[in-house]
Amino acid sequence: MSRTAAHTLRLWLFLLVLVPVSLFGRGSIHPQFAMTPQEFRDMVFGLPLEVQARVLRDPSVFLEMTAAVIESGLELTRHVDRTHGLSHLHTPEDLVNLLEQHPGIPVYAADDRLAAPAAMALQELVDAALQDGVRLAISSAFRDFAMQEELYAEHIVRFGFRATQQLVAPPGHSEHQLGTTVDFFPVGRRFDNTPQDQWLTEHASTFGFSMSYPPGLEDITGYMHESWHYRYIGREAIALRDRFFGGVQFHLTEFLFFHGDFLRETFRADSTVHHTDSQTVITSRRY
Ligand code: DAL
Ligand code: ZN
Repeated sequence: MSRTAAHTLRLWLFLLVLVPVSLFGRGSIHPQFAMTPQEFRDMVFGLPLEVQARVLRDPSVFLEMTAAVIESGLELTRHVDRTHGLSHLHTPEDLVNLLEQHPGIPVYAADDRLAAPAAMALQELVDAALQDGVRLAISSAFRDFAMQEELYAEHIVRFGFRATQQLVAPPGHSEHQLGTTVDFFPVGRRFDNTPQDQWLTEHASTFGFSMSYPPGLEDITGYMHESWHYRYIGREAIALRDRFFGGVQFHLTEFLFFHGDFLRETFRADSTVHHTDSQTVITSRRY
């Protein structure tokens, strides 16, 4: 073999063996995450098969959209269900009184409160519905542990334990305690197929609101379909939910419950500093 041929052969060996090893073996899978391809595969392994297939088909898009969810605040997608609860002390710090801060939102009680970003998004949603001729009103917003305890006990007395289990979360297990969840008026089967139900089914996602208990998913969510119950998870999480998680909020929040810490730890957003007229704002950093 001539020296040139031997040199070319060595070059090809380098390209065929070393480059793929560095890209797909121990290297990072995405510039925004310090995570190996193996760690990525392990992370998505437990997902429902159809979700897994979508994620493995487009890992880059998945991680990019996940990065956006991390930057928008993982607290918005905190997983709360029958088995994953909140401390009895959990109360969001940024609760605002709806009647005082957003008088345009019709409420049931003068002390109805929501976390500030959810309240702002709700205002936009209610305004947009009204422009389409649909009047929305709120039956229930933030409920602390004690309020949920009262509601739960009342339901058991009136409707029995089994019926209550299908419709009311035990205290410490309600999304209402997150301060990002609302029940639209009127609560119950009376809401089904109303213009309000139809409008929300079509448009709520646009404003970052997600139907937590959709029809047909009772075995997964643990609750009957609740056409009136919506949770604000943000537009970024809605986009991820719809692109990869089949539109199912439960699958998304459960995935982030298991892997949110790892994703946050491996996330390495660039620190981009923007200068405005009066201040310096860091818009993106690792946290
Ligand atoms: N109705 C829902 C499950 C709740 O009580 O939070
Ligand atoms: Zn509710």
